[in-house]
Amino acid sequence: MTNEALGESRPGTRGRAGWTREQASRIARTDDTVAPIVYPPETEQIPEVHIWDTWFLRERDGTLATVDGYRICFSLTAPSDLLPGKRHDVATIRCFYSDDGRNWHNAGPVFEDPLGQRQWAGSALYDDDGSVYLFYTAAGEEGADDLTYTQRIVGAGGGTIDTADGFELSGPWTHHELLRPDGERYEREDQSRGMIYTFRDPWFFEDPETGETWLLFEANTPVQEGSDACGGDDALQEFNGSVGIARSPTGDPLAWELEDPLLDAVGVNQELERPHVVYRDGLYYLFVSSHLHTFAPGLKGFDALYGFVAEELRGDYVPLNESGLVVTNPENAPFQSYSWMAFPHGDEVLVQSFFNYYDFAGETLDEIAHLSESEQMRRFGGSLGPTLRLDVEGSRTRIIGTLGHWHIPLDGETLPLTDRELIRRGQGVD
Ligand code: FRU
Repeated sequence: MTNEALGESRPGTRGRAGWTREQASRIARTDDTVAPIVYPPETEQIPEVHIWDTWFLRERDGTLATVDGYRICFSLTAPSDLLPGKRHDVATIRCFYSDDGRNWHNAGPVFEDPLGQRQWAGSALYDDDGSVYLFYTAAGEEGADDLTYTQRIVGAGGGTIDTADGFELSGPWTHHELLRPDGERYEREDQSRGMIYTFRDPWFFEDPETGETWLLFEANTPVQEGSDACGGDDALQEFNGSVGIARSPTGDPLAWELEDPLLDAVGVNQELERPHVVYRDGLYYLFVSSHLHTFAPGLKGFDALYGFVAEELRGDYVPLNESGLVVTNPENAPFQSYSWMAFPHGDEVLVQSFFNYYDFAGETLDEIAHLSESEQMRRFGGSLGPTLRLDVEGSRTRIIGTLGHWHIPLDGETLPLTDRELIRRGQGVD
């Protein structure tokens, strides 16, 4: 299957990039893409809750915000005595803050009355006037008796930060349903033929070249049964992940219009999770997380951070490192981290992720559920993992080092020399 074949099968989708089976078939672990093994930190920073998908409060231009000396992040959380596999069913967004980028404190649940039965991932904007917006996924319909899997993209406005007496983020928040899938560009739940459909993980982005305001999100591309996408192979068509996008014509964080996806992966992968962009050297780096088990038959991928680069936001994305693979876990701990998020720091790109299942060399995540409950608890990190340091040059990336668990450097913080820099210095000494 080629990009051209996909384009032909969906008229009117000109300009949409695709992750092809040919590109994805090149996925392989390399020294540049495999993160070091992770061990639990000596003391858990926030022992009372498990933490997974995490995002930082950022300004409109994407800079990580510093508010009166504080770095601020938001995470999906669940009580730490809950079985880790159940956490998605009760996910609650909590706020954490730090004045040194290393030690984090729990500011508690952000909302009293959010939309949805539970909240999944999103992003957060510190606007020019000091107000805080949170974008999140409302999973399930509030009021329904059973757990449902409907996903809507929601924006909450009205947040303010007060640091007069420590740190406090408060409302009153107003929650606005921003987007639902339209069934044409973006698959609705009733159209889904594969695993559960996705319409989630909103991520705010202001294009530094055009000044336009965008919201990226994870979605699926509707593919008609029997259509000739993927050569008519129905088994492949169920794998239809996409990176969706909506535009705010006025820059209003609460008013969005759906547009055609930025990129999709029909016949390749069902979930392109938590899409986000890092703009660097005039190039747009688009990153997504994905799972081993969401690749289509005939392809072998990993739980990993994947990335693509283009000259424009709506450009013809080229996979990084030829396959798209940017960061993955070691072969003997294939699920140790997930939900990676890249952000710039000086000349480097840093990547945070959560510490998932460790001390576990099974081949699939399903095998975890077969362990005893105490083993499932013991092997779940449930906190932020070490921050990775990436060297990014054109369409190539290389892991060059790590920082500590949950170390998110403050603005302008000088990072320690990497191994390679130390060696280079050594050579310079005569
Ligand atoms: C990735 C993810 C997100 C979702 C969340 C739900 O880890 O699947 O796409 O928002 O987890 O817990």
